Amino acid sequence: MGETRTPEGQGTGEGGTAVRVKNVFLACAVLLSVALANAATYVGSDVCQRCHPDIREQFSQNPHFRTWALRHEPGTGCEGCHGPASDHIKKPSRRTIFSPSAHTVEEFSEKCLSCHGTDLNRAGIRHSEHTRASVGCTSCHSIHQAAPHTALLARKEPDLCYTCHPTNQAQFSMPFKHRVNEGFMKCTDCHNPHGAFSPTWRMAERPHMVDQRLLNEEACLGCHVEKRGPFVFEHTAVRVDGCETCHMPHGSTNARMLKRPVVFTMCLECHNGSGSGRTGLGMPYPVSFHNLADPRYQNCTGCHVRIHGSNADAFFLR
Ligand code: HEC
Ligand code: HEC
Ligand code: HEC
Ligand code: HEC
Ligand code: HEC
Ligand code: HEC
Ligand code: HEC
Ligand code: HEC
Ligand code: HEC
Ligand code: HEC
Repeated sequence: MGETRTPEGQGTGEGGTAVRVKNVFLACAVLLSVALANAATYVGSDVCQRCHPDIREQFSQNPHFRTWALRHEPGTGCEGCHGPASDHIKKPSRRTIFSPSAHTVEEFSEKCLSCHGTDLNRAGIRHSEHTRASVGCTSCHSIHQAAPHTALLARKEPDLCYTCHPTNQAQFSMPFKHRVNEGFMKCTDCHNPHGAFSPTWRMAERPHMVDQRLLNEEACLGCHVEKRGPFVFEHTAVRVDGCETCHMPHGSTNARMLKRPVVFTMCLECHNGSGSGRTGLGMPYPVSFHNLADPRYQNCTGCHVRIHGSNADAFFLR
């Protein structure tokens, strides 16, 4: 299987240029030499229905039916995943065909990537936490028994994810949370289960397959657009460290899904005067008139209302 094959590249189509014709001859020559070497060859999908009528029947609903219906065979349709089947027709058994029950998840994933490699490589599929933990295409996708309307997923989200990540379910039942369990949002609104490249926030550390939106920004900004900026006065904590520095992205017992129950303790974790303080590259401590013993001053965001960044004030006061 060549890694550069794409779904679009499947069709030999009706192309009439000299280059195309030459390619067809080349392909024939290759096929011929393969046949002479006594390897299995493609027979087309029509013959499968004789012995696998159930699978054939529901296959018309499958997005993979398209390549067959458009006569982009050989090498697509049923054989796109199960490989050339001439041997299997002669000697029907699970050993004469590329069968999922006889191959590892990784081996089957490579089959899928022979067509889907281009897009998914861009997401970093070969380095994702899932791939590295032997979670492959067929761990999440079911070709012949998919849940309805789900991109061929074996189960609907979030149930699919909870089968392997049960602890996350409790986080989405906390008093302040994103409404994933209620069906208003999906895990994949923020995560790309196929992987994610190093982002522009969090010092480019690869963070838990969190997806990216426009301009490689954090997935949160796809919905919370008013936090996008750019602002004349950025709060470095938001722009560089990322939303999860202060928020629990799944759910929290604290209002606004904050990491700490008391806001000012969170601010002071950074604004502690460390380094060389205000004068150099260190962290500014709240200026001296902030009397932190006074409850009025403990309500930091009561005055610093534009905590995510401001276009009017360097101290985020308006
Ligand atoms: C002449 C009948 C016949 C035809 C035609 C046929 N198969 Fe099969 N197929 C079988 C039999 C029998 C088995 C073995 C079933 C078993 O062991 O449980 C099998 C098994 C399989 C398996 C493995 C199932 C498993 O449990 O691992 C796959 C995949 C498969 N066939 C795909 C195809 C495809 C694709 C085609 C068309 C190119 C095709 N078959 C055509 C009879 C046929
Ligand atoms: C996109 C890849 C893909 C295509 C196309 C595909 N299959 Fe499969 N097939 C699989 C996978 C993956 C499994 C394992 C079970 C599952 O995930 O649903 C499987 C399982 C099977 C099985 C054995 C398991 C069972 O449910 O009995 C048979 C038989 C089979 N396929 C036949 C076919 C036939 C016939 C076609 C064409 C009509 C076809 N397949 C098209 C990927 C594919
Ligand atoms: C951990 C679970 C998981 C794994 C592993 C996985 N997927 Fe997916 N995939 C999903 C989910 C969930 C969606 C639906 C995304 C959505 O609704 O936005 C999806 C969507 C897709 C889509 C359609 C939408 C798109 O993003 O282009 C394709 C194609 C796809 N997956 C192919 C694959 C292939 C090929 C593999 C293996 C190399 C694979 N997936 C592995 C969960 C998974
Ligand atoms: C022979 C090439 C080929 C192979 C191999 C292949 N696919 Fe596909 N896949 C396609 C094409 C073509 C489409 C339809 C794209 C479209 O309609 O835009 C598709 C669509 C999909 C979709 C999108 C479904 C949706 O509703 O949007 C998923 C998910 C998917 N494939 C998963 C897989 C998985 C998992 C495997 C391996 C078991 C696999 N594919 C193997 C060519 C292939
Ligand atoms: C078949 C089991 C399985 C399924 C289904 C599954 N995952 Fe995973 N996931 C794993 C394993 C195993 C790991 C790697 C070990 C770990 O970090 O927990 C992982 C890792 C992750 C990570 C990275 C964790 C980290 O600490 O960096 C995220 C995020 C994730 N999965 C999200 C999802 C989402 C979203 C879905 C549903 C679309 C999903 N997973 C479905 C098994 C699964
Ligand atoms: C609102 C966006 C968002 C949604 C929705 C979301 N996540 Fe996350 N998730 C994140 C972010 C951001 C992180 C990284 C947190 C960090 O780095 O501190 C993360 C981290 C994780 C991790 C690794 C850390 C941990 O808690 O174990 C897993 C696993 C995970 N998510 C699974 C899921 C699953 C499963 C779902 C759906 C049920 C889901 N996420 C829905 C944003 C989200
Ligand atoms: C798919 C859209 C979407 C994405 C992506 C998203 N959110 Fe949300 N968020 C919402 C919605 C809608 C609400 C309103 C609360 C509800 O659903 O009940 C919300 C609520 C919140 C709240 C609480 C607001 C309040 O007034 O209590 C915070 C904080 C928040 N999101 C932060 C984040 C962070 C951080 C991320 C990224 C890790 C993120 N969101 C990603 C849609 C999204
Ligand atoms: C420096 C800490 C910090 C960071 C980083 C941060 N927030 Fe917040 N966020 C807060 C605080 C504090 C509040 C509560 C404000 C209040 O009490 O009025 C809040 C409130 C919110 C709210 C609800 C109220 C509103 O203003 O709409 C949303 C939504 C939100 N944040 C989203 C985000 C997103 C998205 C990001 C990343 C782009 C982010 N936050 C990064 C501290 C932070
Ligand atoms: C993750 C660390 C972090 C957290 C948490 C954080 N900040 Fe900041 N904040 C910074 C950094 C870094 C700067 C930029 C300092 C500089 O430019 O010297 C900054 C700048 C500021 C400024 C502007 C000061 C100036 O001199 O430019 C104010 C006001 C401020 N933060 C208030 C807050 C408040 C209120 C909170 C709590 C809601 C908070 N910050 C939480 C890291 C943080
Ligand atoms: C009563 C309103 C008020 C409250 C409450 C408040 N601040 Fe401020 N803060 C200000 C004003 C006004 C300035 C600008 C001072 C100036 O112009 O130099 C400021 C400046 C700052 C600066 C910038 C210091 C510098 O030298 O650059 C930081 C950091 C800061 N505040 C953090 C906090 C933190 C953390 C809290 C909560 C513990 C807090 N503030 C509570 C009004 C307030």
